[in-house]
Amino acid sequence: METLEQLISTNCKNFEQFFQSPPALVAYAPGRINIIGEHTDYNQGLAMPCAINRWVTVSISPRTDDQVHVVSIDFDGKMIFSLNSIYEPKTLWEQYIYGCITLFMQMHSIPSGFNAMISGNVPIGAGVSSSAALEVAFVNALNEFFKVELNGLEIIKLCQQVEHQYLHVKSGLLDQYASQFSKKDKVLMLDFHSLSHTYINAETTGYVWVLCDSNIKRTLAGSKYSERVQETQAALKNLHEQISDITEFKDIELEHLSLLKDIVQQKRMRHYLSENYRVKAVAEALKNHDFILFGKLLTASHISLREDYEVSCKELDYLVELALDTDYCLGSRMMGGGFGGCTINLVKEEYVKEFCNKIQEGYYRKFNIEGIINIYETVNGAGTYPVHKNVQYHA
Ligand code: GLA
Repeated sequence: METLEQLISTNCKNFEQFFQSPPALVAYAPGRINIIGEHTDYNQGLAMPCAINRWVTVSISPRTDDQVHVVSIDFDGKMIFSLNSIYEPKTLWEQYIYGCITLFMQMHSIPSGFNAMISGNVPIGAGVSSSAALEVAFVNALNEFFKVELNGLEIIKLCQQVEHQYLHVKSGLLDQYASQFSKKDKVLMLDFHSLSHTYINAETTGYVWVLCDSNIKRTLAGSKYSERVQETQAALKNLHEQISDITEFKDIELEHLSLLKDIVQQKRMRHYLSENYRVKAVAEALKNHDFILFGKLLTASHISLREDYEVSCKELDYLVELALDTDYCLGSRMMGGGFGGCTINLVKEEYVKEFCNKIQEGYYRKFNIEGIINIYETVNGAGTYPVHKNVQYHA
């Protein structure tokens, strides 16, 4: 798999070939995995993601007219429009890009058009946030190129608005946050109430993270994501009507759950509260190198996502079952929005090969689908790289 330097270099070459001049700068943003803290972000909860060594790169240069020309290598497409007229995006990737440009322009005036080239190696639909990497890379490119000086939080909030307004998914900030703020060898301890983070050493001596992609691709928009957002909002409203002091999710405690007469709302909130607890417990386990406890918390998270939050699917459940059936895995759970995508597993380093073989064989036997196994490295979050100046890039 390509390194960031290789991706940047290929992107620049493609840019130069296509636009007949080199780009002025390249921005990049990584995909992410999430160790724990699922479906908590949009309700001001906790999560623990980190960025992975897969990136989207965006190169950009000025134009003298008001045209925008954007080329996507991976989607083999091109969009051209004028800054002064309305454009109808034809595909999903265009929708993301058009959303980024339009929202950026609503807040900051753009003096001229530009050319941009997008390429990357974040697997699409595999639950490692290729869309967040695309938005974050693109907005970082615009920000740096037009010298707007948005800070990291402003950048990711803009990206989140792209999801809300252009994709109509009321997602939280988990993916964009991880893509922008991660640090190599660390996991982020994210608090979505205060929108703040700390870093924890990601070291798992003797164990590695193995990602098993179910190869089931379901987009969030088509899934029950929005339904979960509404159900939890309704639960909060319900509790507020009974106890006026409860105005935010952070005010809700376990003892309040029995006040929710709607059993579905009760289950959703039970997941939310228990998952926040697990994030804190995993942080402690990681600091203490207690990987047995760590693994148990991961598996408990899966059970909660499956039973209480009901965002798993039979393929993900089976991948977890297979993983736990081996003697090499301390814990396993579905990762990301759910209904497809991948599982994350904490596996004994010396048995990784055996583990991967068992999972792939067992999964294929049951569903006739090739599962894809990946082991990623942690990397730094998004950044930019000026091409003209002879600046050394440090990953
Ligand atoms: C998707 C969303 C995130 C988050 C996760 C579930 O990845 O984009 O905001 O809600 O699902 O934790």
